Amino acid sequence: MSPHNIDDLEKVDLCVVGGAGHVGLPLAIAFANTGLRTLVYDINEAALEQIGRGELPALEYDADPLLKKTLANGNLVLSSDHKDVGKADMIIVTIGTPVDEYMNPVHRAVKQCMDDLRPYFRDDQLLILRSTLYPGTSDWVKNYLMSNDCKMDVAFCPERVVQGYTIRELHGMPQIVGGTDEASAERAKELFARVAPEIVGMKPMEAEFAKLFNNAYRYVQFAITNQFYMIADSAGVDYYKILEGMTHNYPRASDVPGAGFAAGPCLLKDTMQLAAFANNQFHLGHSAMLVNEGLALYVVDQLRSEYDLQNTTVGLIGMAFKAEVDDVRSSLSYKMKKALIVHAKGTLTTDPFVKNDPDLLPLDDVIAQSDVLVLCTPHKAYKGLDLQGKPVIDVWNFFNK
Ligand SMILES: NC(=O)c1ccc[n+]([C@@H]2O[C@H](COP(=O)([O-])OP(=O)(O)OC[C@H]3O[C@@H](n4cnc5c(N)ncnc54)[C@H](O)[C@@H]3O)[C@@H](O)[C@H]2O)c1
Repeated sequence: MSPHNIDDLEKVDLCVVGGAGHVGLPLAIAFANTGLRTLVYDINEAALEQIGRGELPALEYDADPLLKKTLANGNLVLSSDHKDVGKADMIIVTIGTPVDEYMNPVHRAVKQCMDDLRPYFRDDQLLILRSTLYPGTSDWVKNYLMSNDCKMDVAFCPERVVQGYTIRELHGMPQIVGGTDEASAERAKELFARVAPEIVGMKPMEAEFAKLFNNAYRYVQFAITNQFYMIADSAGVDYYKILEGMTHNYPRASDVPGAGFAAGPCLLKDTMQLAAFANNQFHLGHSAMLVNEGLALYVVDQLRSEYDLQNTTVGLIGMAFKAEVDDVRSSLSYKMKKALIVHAKGTLTTDPFVKNDPDLLPLDDVIAQSDVLVLCTPHKAYKGLDLQGKPVIDVWNFFNK
């Protein structure tokens, strides 16, 4: 679909490394849409092929027409060859930065990426790190590159938009810019001023903390309401009646969220990066993990106490990690499914968005074949659903709203 092949181009304005991913692709499309010739560089060739056909590998609202437009006008070009990174004036890195099985950050993901790309870096390039980083990583990258005779500008500019809604949110949200020096900060600010309404400048480590604190705060907020829910529910009291009373015309409690499964690729991981940084003394963060991850197991326990599970088929409605997306990474629906394998006669699953799970069944089949249902992900499509008289566990209070 792209009229420009990267091999025919000597230079591009911007390269997004990890550009086929959830963060990288909408960002690349947004910059390409501002007129920058933008290279999507990724090691995932299958995803690049899909993008080249004008298809989004993951659900991203409002991105489809812009993808087609920027491919057609040649502002978006694709490559899986790391030497093409050398053609860009500016590079944004959006690769995954996971935590390991001990909840410690995997430093080698960033180091390996720098080692792979270093031969193609030039001193006059600007390198922007956008993956979520363990505090201190941006300064480490700058020093690591300097010690290898690479004097490029380096800045950290965290992604803070809601997954799936980058195109909608990017233009309405301040962009934090953490330059490792003044020149790096100025160049990064100039780039992001093309898409963000406001720039907030700070040091790289402050920016790294700001990103982690944003997500950890949200994760702790979800944990407190989830804990309230479990306390009220185990006392046989309706939490949502209490929540309504707590928040009604009471501004100091107006932002207490409802209970629900809080998971996904960011909130837990970012909270754990912070905990690792704080020598595992981030007690609130660890407690939040126990509560949020524990909510799925609380529901399993509830099922075990109310049903003869060995003779019961449980239907899980919604498998994505949150509503209206197709992403199942770290979804608590799958945690529940795993826990139920040993307890229930059968576990049936369904989701209208998820495309990469061959075990999913049509919604009607799951409802018809299950003895009890659990609403795991409150997709809007489930509003007004006919549950065919089947009992449902609904921690979200979705069906009563
Ligand atoms: N998903 C979100 O909503 C979100 C929000 C804020 C921050 N983040 C952070 O952004 C980063 C990326 O997250 P994501 O959800 O987009 O992950 P993702 O797995 O969807 O995307 C990462 C992409 O990087 C590619 N990749 C990996 N190593 C590479 C390499 N060495 N060279 C080139 N490409 C490479 C992968 O093929 C993949 O396409 C993470 O640090 C994450 O914590 C994510």
